[in-house]
Amino acid sequence: MAEVRSAILGTGRAYPEGILTNADLERMVETSDEWITTRTGIKERHRASESEYTSLFAVEASRKAIERARIDPIDIGLLICATVSPDQILPSTGCLIQAELGAHKAAAFDLAAACSGFLYGLTMADKMIKTGQVRYALVIGAEVLSRYVDFTDRSTCILFGDGAGAAVMGPAEGDRGVLATRIYSDGRYAEQLYSPGGGTRIKPTSETLSQGLHYFKMKGNELFKIAVRSMADVSVEVLKEAGCRAEEVKLFIPHQANQRITDAVTSRLDVDPSIVYSNIAYHGNTSSASVPIALDECVEQGKVSEGDLVLLASFGGGVTWGGALIKW
Ligand code: UT7
Repeated sequence: MAEVRSAILGTGRAYPEGILTNADLERMVETSDEWITTRTGIKERHRASESEYTSLFAVEASRKAIERARIDPIDIGLLICATVSPDQILPSTGCLIQAELGAHKAAAFDLAAACSGFLYGLTMADKMIKTGQVRYALVIGAEVLSRYVDFTDRSTCILFGDGAGAAVMGPAEGDRGVLATRIYSDGRYAEQLYSPGGGTRIKPTSETLSQGLHYFKMKGNELFKIAVRSMADVSVEVLKEAGCRAEEVKLFIPHQANQRITDAVTSRLDVDPSIVYSNIAYHGNTSSASVPIALDECVEQGKVSEGDLVLLASFGGGVTWGGALIKW
């Protein structure tokens, strides 16, 4: 079968109504709005209630993406839910989303690549569409990270937010579509951001729960440097592969981990700061949901027009990272 390019045909996003502000955090841990704002750029983040869970937001975001792509859910051949905060271990959140959407012909599964999950999923979907294995794919990044955040640990609890973003991908028209993708990981840095307990190595018991072993532990300072280097390098790589220059990029969406990381990547890449999208002030770090939520906001705000070059880059626990260059 002849190779076709893949394109993003529709996007969507959803998040809890609940909001946790820096002022709320000031009442929970020894921190200040001033510290959080200057060190991270975050002012508030969405937080799920006890009765809300990951697939709820994933389904809502997906329905919007499907509607905008004007496709029938039954025509989706691949459904990837990138998440590190699944509804439950079995079945996959992907299968639960599939059932809700009526996407009964899709191969559905979860993909655990932390904050890079959406770019990993986009890369997989791109290849499956290109090789004719599937016509339409739904790629979702969805997280309720607040369940794994230790709200007594000021170094992590200020960062993370809950939400979901989704993109329907399908065959591209003309010269539009995904021009290049690259994904990487390096497990030697696994303990820079991890949750030690709750799996098969340290099974969940009342003791491990009371010790908080299921919570995220992070060496933020060390991750910071790797994040900047990785996102800048992978961006250069996808630009090179597509034969494009950084000056030609009309919109750059980096993973929203920390405004200072975004600023450092922007200056390394030497792109105009005005083309770099940031919503970290209102979402915090939503891990795999960060890039698709940002992309959907950009589409809605008219920040991207047909033919524009859109650069996406991400970095997360694992460590994992990835980049994609898309002609919109
Ligand atoms: O999603 C992808 C993976 N994640 C990342 O890429 C995260 C990358 N890292 C970061 O964003 C930053 O490293 C953080 C925001 C997590 C921390 O910022 P930092 O500028 O690297 O601070 P630091 O960890 O070097 O800590 C500096 C000081 C410490 O106090 P001492 O030891 O200097 O007395 C911390 O205890 O700031 C203290 N601190 C805080 N103070 C007030 C740490 N967290 C807080 C806080 N409020 N929330």
